[in-house]
Amino acid sequence: MCGIVGYVGYQNAVDILLDGLKHLEYRGYDSSGIALMSNGEIKVYKALGKLQNLVDTMKKEKITSCNTGIGHIRWATHGLPTLANAHPHSCNCKGLTLVHNGIIENYQEIKETLIKNGAIFKSQTDTEVAAQLIAFEYGKTNDLVQAVSSAVSKLKGAWAFCVMHKNEPETIVATRKNAPLLIGAGENENFLSSDIAAIIKYTKKAIYLNDGQITKISKDKIQIFNEDLTPASNRMEILPFEAHSLSKMGYKHFMLKEIHEQPDVVRNILQDKIKDEISDIALNGVNLDINSLKKINRIQIIACGTSLHAGLVGKYVIEDLTGIPVSVEASSEYIYRRSIADENTLVIGISQSGETADTITAIKQVKEKGAHVLIITNRKESLLSRLSDSLFHINAGIEVSVAATKSYTAQLVSIYLLGIFIAQTLNMDKKRIQEIKHELLTLPSKLEAVLSGELTIKKLAKKYSGFKNFIFIARGINYPTALEGALKLKEISYINATGYPAGELKHGPIAMLDETMPVLAILNKGIVYDKVMSNCEEAYARQAKLIGVANEIDERHKELFDDFVIIPPVSDIVSPALNVTVLQLFAYFIAEYLGKDVDQPRNLAKSVTVE
Ligand code: M6R
Repeated sequence: MCGIVGYVGYQNAVDILLDGLKHLEYRGYDSSGIALMSNGEIKVYKALGKLQNLVDTMKKEKITSCNTGIGHIRWATHGLPTLANAHPHSCNCKGLTLVHNGIIENYQEIKETLIKNGAIFKSQTDTEVAAQLIAFEYGKTNDLVQAVSSAVSKLKGAWAFCVMHKNEPETIVATRKNAPLLIGAGENENFLSSDIAAIIKYTKKAIYLNDGQITKISKDKIQIFNEDLTPASNRMEILPFEAHSLSKMGYKHFMLKEIHEQPDVVRNILQDKIKDEISDIALNGVNLDINSLKKINRIQIIACGTSLHAGLVGKYVIEDLTGIPVSVEASSEYIYRRSIADENTLVIGISQSGETADTITAIKQVKEKGAHVLIITNRKESLLSRLSDSLFHINAGIEVSVAATKSYTAQLVSIYLLGIFIAQTLNMDKKRIQEIKHELLTLPSKLEAVLSGELTIKKLAKKYSGFKNFIFIARGINYPTALEGALKLKEISYINATGYPAGELKHGPIAMLDETMPVLAILNKGIVYDKVMSNCEEAYARQAKLIGVANEIDERHKELFDDFVIIPPVSDIVSPALNVTVLQLFAYFIAEYLGKDVDQPRNLAKSVTVE
């Protein structure tokens, strides 16, 4: 996690660094800091808490004449969020300063050696160890690229570093391994950042560093070196995102804006893939043909958090459409057991950011076993994309709010399309495929209908905002929807919410039910409707308050419910993509009503780049 940014050019570095950090706030926000280099001197400024505190500090400093600097926003891994632990970190003589994203696993042993050589440490971080180590190596060569190279050869773990040395004015040296870092190329200015978002306003030209490469940038020169320090010539890419993706466009929070973007996001994915209900769909980037698919005897889906919930829906969809057995597992669990993936396995990695460390490790493992790796992601330039044999870019536009919303819906739609693609390639049930295509094509207008009823959900959220616990129930393909709705509520309102398969209620959780525990039930008209309704009866009999999310509620059942939200009719299989919007809005309005920091909930970061 953490966000890093670097700038060398002609503009005021303070403004560029603070603005860049503003766009990286979703990566962490325990503390922040910048280091500025001018006249052979490096000065470091830090603040605790939100970035605004650093902005306020820098306003008082009134620095306008510095054109080189590095910045950092922290999500604490080693050591408490204190000023001493905030980045940038320097060596003892303050000649060298750096910012870091990642974790150095062997920092303790290196620290002990450095202490024996006279280093004095002021923080508990692994990052300060890197600063002292690079400074130590610099003492041998007086060359920052060489010093960084020999220092990182001694490190284990993951990192992206931006490093400045006072003897190398108007220059930043940077490197990465298993953590993102890109170079933004400008006119008479160059940038470094862990994410496009920090630099897109200034340049659309970017160069991605490969693992182990080192770059040295000045305002008019970008040099790239391979791990062995031979010169490299990486491709220049044109960045995809428009700056307006980074604006709230009049909404109070990014989360609400992103929820409202969902109809267009779905239209956008479907646009060039489904022409009509009859024609075959085309998935550019998915390199699977009839011969490779015939070999596949199992599919494994690996993901974390919200993406894992999309994967759980994927199991229902792909098994239903293709009959191929699908297992779904949290990446962090997958890594530490014997994997049975082989060359007849299709492994689908799902990740909004494409940067999630656990998913990256799991995918690297299955690649070694010869499995075909298909990545579903919102970031086609990400580390996971680069590991893929097949890539499904969900193209949802940048998602700023830490709580994933539009990317989830886009992942679901991608999974429907993938299921259809596999089924059509293997010549399976054409009628079923046509029905699902029809449902997908009508999904955007149904999403619009749900969004137009948001006032009802807002009122409901206010009514229920005082409860401390919720249970969300559903069956079948909407069980993951219950999990996702509960996760959203937990993440942004800090209210305890648990998702259960409705049939499991009587196997334990029912013990908790009374008038203080609202039960939210998802009841689409379909094969499990009557079953979920029976579970609602059980909850009603225990005085639980009941909220129904349904296409309609029969007259005879209406009295069971304290409240309900009626959504347009939708087929069972596509219903998760519609139902989830109600739960996203419910979570959003509760958190907003409680005055929570919706876009940047405590303790969370948008990209979880540490295992
Ligand atoms: O970028 P990823 O999809 O791999 O991220 C996985 C999870 O960290 C992420 O979905 C997390 O659960 C979100 N905060 C959900 O809102």
